[in-house]
Amino acid sequence: MSNAIIRLGLLGIGVAAFAFSLMACSSNSGKPDTSSVKFTQYVVRGEELYQKHCSNCHQKNGSGLGQVYPPLNTSDYMNQNFEKVLCLMKYGLKEPITVNGKSYVQPMPGVVTLTDLEIAEIATYIYNSWDHAQGIVDVTEVSSAIKNCVTADQ
Ligand code: HEC
Repeated sequence: MSNAIIRLGLLGIGVAAFAFSLMACSSNSGKPDTSSVKFTQYVVRGEELYQKHCSNCHQKNGSGLGQVYPPLNTSDYMNQNFEKVLCLMKYGLKEPITVNGKSYVQPMPGVVTLTDLEIAEIATYIYNSWDHAQGIVDVTEVSSAIKNCVTADQ
């Protein structure tokens, strides 16, 4: 066997090992896992629930509506207030808020009948649509956040 062939072979192993380490890296680097069946189910059901409970105001494409309904497609509020967002789906929101530098003062009604699983599905949908790619929001995360919702003034 010539040296060239051996070198090619080694190169092949090297490339494969490199590719494999990249794959291993990307699944360990905190990047959201969006390949599971569970993730897909959450997104599909979340979209249905979003269209039923949320899109009247926030619109199908998440753009919101003028000065009245804030956007979800790009929202610094969503990025900075993850647990509050889980709570407001169920309990609504009455305080004035600022989203992407604009203020919103209309209260949002909550949907008290939403289960933790439904909130997880809607959250997974809105946090993985448009500009967001945060990965699955598991129902266990929702259950512990919902217990801490501040609802006294609502
Ligand atoms: C009747 C209209 C209406 C419905 C229905 C509604 N919202 Fe809202 N939403 C609002 C308003 C108005 C605000 C601003 C509330 C405030 O300023 O206190 C808001 C605020 C928000 C915010 C925080 C601000 C932002 O843009 O990031 C999120 C997230 C949100 N809503 C998600 C949802 C989800 C998810 C649903 C469905 C479960 C929903 N909303 C249903 C009107 C609505």
